Amino acid sequence: MTDDGILEELEELDSGMEAAAELSESISTAPASEPDRALIASFLTNPLPILIMDSNLRISDANEACERLFENFYHLKGGRFLDVFGKSLGVEALKEFVLSVKSPERGYSWKGLIRSKIRESGTILTKTYLFPLYAKNDREHIPPSFVVFFDDVTEENRALLRAVFLSLLEASKLKDNDTGKHIQRVNLYSERMALELFDKPGYEEIDKDFIDDIGFLAAMHDVGKIGTPDDVLNKEGPLADWEWTIMKEHTKNGAYILSTYPNPMAREIALYHHERWDGSGYPYSLEGKMIPLASRIVAVADVYDALRMKRSYKNAFDHETAVRKVREWSGTHFDPSLAAVFERIENEFEAIYADNAD
Ligand SMILES: [Fe+2]
Ligand SMILES: [Fe+2]
Repeated sequence: MTDDGILEELEELDSGMEAAAELSESISTAPASEPDRALIASFLTNPLPILIMDSNLRISDANEACERLFENFYHLKGGRFLDVFGKSLGVEALKEFVLSVKSPERGYSWKGLIRSKIRESGTILTKTYLFPLYAKNDREHIPPSFVVFFDDVTEENRALLRAVFLSLLEASKLKDNDTGKHIQRVNLYSERMALELFDKPGYEEIDKDFIDDIGFLAAMHDVGKIGTPDDVLNKEGPLADWEWTIMKEHTKNGAYILSTYPNPMAREIALYHHERWDGSGYPYSLEGKMIPLASRIVAVADVYDALRMKRSYKNAFDHETAVRKVREWSGTHFDPSLAAVFERIENEFEAIYADNAD
């Protein structure tokens, strides 16, 4: 999105918030009967996450399941719904919310998807349903309170996304010589490195989602080899120049295949995992921080593991030799600060290799 686009969205979000504030005013000044206390009490003992709001859309109560669901994300009680959840809604959903909640025609009801995210806790995705709670025998007036149900679909959504990636990965494994263990190890090293960087200054882009994602998507680095001819892919001995040219295409092919997949990190990893810090890599000879962080991390993990493995053109190196080579290539092949992080946790790389040997 362009800067203008972002500014526009923010302005819209602000105006949405203002409209929501006006809405609250209008509701609060309207006559409202007493809420149905018995009904509210029954919601509060329900095992599903539920919260109750007064006519001002101020959260008066949240049951235990709801407090638990959002404990790392929001302080619920006493806050106004849109102050708490507004920024997690997105502009369109916010507009829809404001229109729905003040509309008798829409039954003062709303449903939508709320994506709550904080750096330390990752993202939770909730299908959210808001209904009015009318006073007993009074459907004439604006409802005196509202109930909100949350359906936590985080895991469901994550499993679905992962299944989509896994099917592609399985297809690529039929073709590629590299073992399943190799890509599993690259996942583990990459996740470990990201975790190490999490609280280091300069790595604010690493959040819980990044760590989870790289621990799953690093494995996608070579899916583009689906498009590499077998005789090049499986050739014994060194490749001729023209064969290298074909081989290098696997980065772009991977990006092409992954371009419609839901998480852009996968595409980045496939496209840039052979770029080098000094600009001598491929496919675009990117330099330094022009190379996305996830790809720089996977580059270290992939090369360390490739060094450890026996290939048709080389023997397996022991851990010490692999560490020495990563050190040697710091600042040329690898981002020097990542090579330094690798050195700090190299014994864990060794353990991952040993625990997940072919
Ligand atoms: Fe590759
Ligand atoms: Fe690899």
